[in-house]
Amino acid sequence: MTQRIRKAVFPVAGLGSRFLPATKAQPKEMMPVVDKPLIQYAVEEAVAAGITEMIFITGRNKRAIEDHFDKAYELESELEAADKHELLELVRQVIPKNINCIYIRQSAPLGLGHAVLCARPVVGDEPFAVLLADDFMDVPEGQRPVIAQMTDLFVYERCSVLGVQQVPREHTRQYGIVSAVPYRENAELITDIVEKPDPEKAPSTLAVAGRYVLSAKIFDFLERLDKGAGGEIQLTDGIAALLRAERVLAYSYSGQRYDCGSKLGYLKAMTAMGLKHAETSIAYRNFLEELALQK
Ligand code: G1P
Repeated sequence: MTQRIRKAVFPVAGLGSRFLPATKAQPKEMMPVVDKPLIQYAVEEAVAAGITEMIFITGRNKRAIEDHFDKAYELESELEAADKHELLELVRQVIPKNINCIYIRQSAPLGLGHAVLCARPVVGDEPFAVLLADDFMDVPEGQRPVIAQMTDLFVYERCSVLGVQQVPREHTRQYGIVSAVPYRENAELITDIVEKPDPEKAPSTLAVAGRYVLSAKIFDFLERLDKGAGGEIQLTDGIAALLRAERVLAYSYSGQRYDCGSKLGYLKAMTAMGLKHAETSIAYRNFLEELALQK
């Protein structure tokens, strides 16, 4: 396998039905956490891991994502004319110069496994990352972002790596759940993986958290898959086949994950980031304290 991960896949074709009506005319990945859309956080995470090729698997209603990562001529010239240089820089920095964005349309919502398979013509036979933007990752100051922690492990181990975390047993129905045996610090060797098991059937409570580094061999397995849980082609089922052919590690990343696919998770992410943001932190903390006192 090649040494470095250069390509990241962002499956963004989902309907975002849990956030209707907010997502009626805009992609859920464009919902902001304070002042930045979810998808931009995910792309920045990939950039910090040295990834340069961003492959978005899009669907209907996702034009805003393409526009976001494109040059905004009118906006830039207006900001320039108004001498708003800081804002101009902010807009220009959305996508650094050496980064390429590639868009592939997933014509039907056939599942996450199918979305990843759509990236095959661009990924080719090199290992790659997958980031689910609604799994929002916050790492402590000075820490490597989660996908960078995982590509570091990949470089060392040269095998697929899934980001995992412990979840309460009653939540296993929301995740891919792994069975694993000890391997090295913070990483276990996966022996099996199952998509969204019922709590009483789940083999463990170690859940996949929307960050993957995968060997290109996964495509061979995804291609042959039948529909799985929820009638969809599941990435988890492809990984279940992959781990019979190659090592796949479960890596317990350091960082806090917020499930921005749920309303509560999104609110928590907004609060955590609002408390950190230079423009809002103090006033927002005061406001939250006032609210808490009113109870
Ligand atoms: C997807 C995956 C699941 C994973 C989860 C993480 O599910 O299918 O294995 O644990 O992302 O967020 P979804 O949340 O898209 O239903």
